[in-house]
Amino acid sequence: MNGAFHVPELTVLLTREQIAQRVAELGAEITRDFIAEPDGEPIVLVGVLKGAAIFLGDLARSISLDATFDFIAVSSYGKQKQSSGEIKLLKDVDHTMEGRNVILVEDILDTGLTLTYLRNMLAGRHPRSLKIAALLDKRSRRQQPIHADYVGFEIPDEFVVGYGLDYAERYRNLSDICVLS
Ligand code: IMP
Ligand code: MG
Repeated sequence: MNGAFHVPELTVLLTREQIAQRVAELGAEITRDFIAEPDGEPIVLVGVLKGAAIFLGDLARSISLDATFDFIAVSSYGKQKQSSGEIKLLKDVDHTMEGRNVILVEDILDTGLTLTYLRNMLAGRHPRSLKIAALLDKRSRRQQPIHADYVGFEIPDEFVVGYGLDYAERYRNLSDICVLS
């Protein structure tokens, strides 16, 4: 936990050390995949606000390529722990995606509804390539046939918080990923 920030109902699932190591591996994998030329292919990391912000920050620093950032926001679960199934775009990307190597960066792939919506939307903008990086994957919960190209950890069907992930906007600043019981 984060020092004086004492929250007894949380159990650590993934430590900050495990996360740092895995994120570095994902960055190296992305670098290898796009480094066709000496300078590498430029990429744009599109983070899904707000949950993916911390993951994107760490991932970006372990990628040795010319990378820019953009952000998108969709309606979230609010105070509920489960999806309403309805997705609303709250903020679009700021720049054109046409002809670019886009990596959609998300905190967690759960039912797959959010990423299916975003992937289809961005694919319609004619990027040169479109990949998905998800830190966490709750595969057993999937309702849409979607998978991420880069996955940090597959986790069981538990509600997790920390490292960007929230419950009613709280706990995003925990360094470890914890199960909220
Ligand atoms: P999906 O559309 O069901 O795949 O949900 C993806 C979104 O749901 C993520 O971006 C998260 O915001 C949220 N979410 C799903 N599972 C969890 C969880 O265990 N903790 C926190 N947020 C979650
Ligand atoms: Mg999210």
